[in-house]
Amino acid sequence: MSERITYQQFLYKHLRDQPGLTTLLESISNAAAGIAEELSRISFTGPADPGTVNLHGESRHHMDQYAETLFLTALSESRACFAVLSEEQTEMIQLTSALSQEAAYIIALDPLDGSSNIDVNIPVGSIFSIYDRFKTASPSHPAAVLQDMDGHIASGYVLYSTTTMIVLALPGLVTGFTLDSANGGFVLSHANIRIPDTGNIYSVNDGNYHDFDRGTQNYIRFCRQQKEFYERPFTARYVGSMVADIHRTLLKGGIFLYPATMALKEGKLRLAYECRPMAYIVEQAGGRASTGSKEILDLPLRSPHQRVPVVIGSEEMVNTAKRLLNACL
Ligand code: AHG
Ligand code: MN
Ligand code: MN
Ligand code: MN
Repeated sequence: MSERITYQQFLYKHLRDQPGLTTLLESISNAAAGIAEELSRISFTGPADPGTVNLHGESRHHMDQYAETLFLTALSESRACFAVLSEEQTEMIQLTSALSQEAAYIIALDPLDGSSNIDVNIPVGSIFSIYDRFKTASPSHPAAVLQDMDGHIASGYVLYSTTTMIVLALPGLVTGFTLDSANGGFVLSHANIRIPDTGNIYSVNDGNYHDFDRGTQNYIRFCRQQKEFYERPFTARYVGSMVADIHRTLLKGGIFLYPATMALKEGKLRLAYECRPMAYIVEQAGGRASTGSKEILDLPLRSPHQRVPVVIGSEEMVNTAKRLLNACL
């Protein structure tokens, strides 16, 4: 049995010269543990309130609100977070005065991802990206920091599933921690996550097939036909929670796509708090993340909830997909 290294010990070892960032990441893990606890009671707190929608017009689950409140409370108490761009808030919210030098970080946050799956007991997640507020010309205008990846420091996600895990991507290192519910706290469980260069799992909402453009339909037919024409048949897996689909892709290899549809011309997933963090995590683990034509991490953020198409996963599979997606242009 390898040595037990806690999340805190990992942070002190790798970020000892950035105490504010350590405090911030600890506050995220505290919120995650609290959300995991509440999710474990979901059968007693009742299903989503029918008819309530959020600013995106999506049905809103009371756990979306609960998760956001836990994160905002923990981030405020950390005193290290200046502002948060949350999926559930129209604009970025500032947590402290512009004068506070201590609050050096800005977070883009999906407090609860895949919330339509909660009431059927399917895994859900939280997704975050952390930026250095002072790596921009105008530190008192937090939105400026998120315009590009210059100020980006780290990204991660929480997966609430069979176990609760935090996957954290620092430059060149993607690490997984599992919540030790017996002893409390997150413990290092995946020391250095590397995504396989290729795989045979494709993950897309096939129900949108007739809404996809010709290039996307060609790629999906290519995946389906692997069984007939190629030695390695593909298999389809789609949870409908981005965190769960990306976590499987990261560990087993494969490709996840949320392409543009007739209804959603820019795709469904948001750049700031879904596609960018996942792109950073997957690329730091050796994978690729593209819109199908542009690299996700090269895209400027033009509005808080900007949506982008996403093709992400094992490098060889994303490269093949890009060729087919663009063959009809
Ligand atoms: P969220 O719950 O944060 O709004 O995100 C839901 C997203 C993402 O988790 C998942 O990949 C996607 O919705 C699934 O969308 P479809 O149901 O349209 O396939
Ligand atoms: Mn949502
Ligand atoms: Mn989401
Ligand atoms: Mn969400």
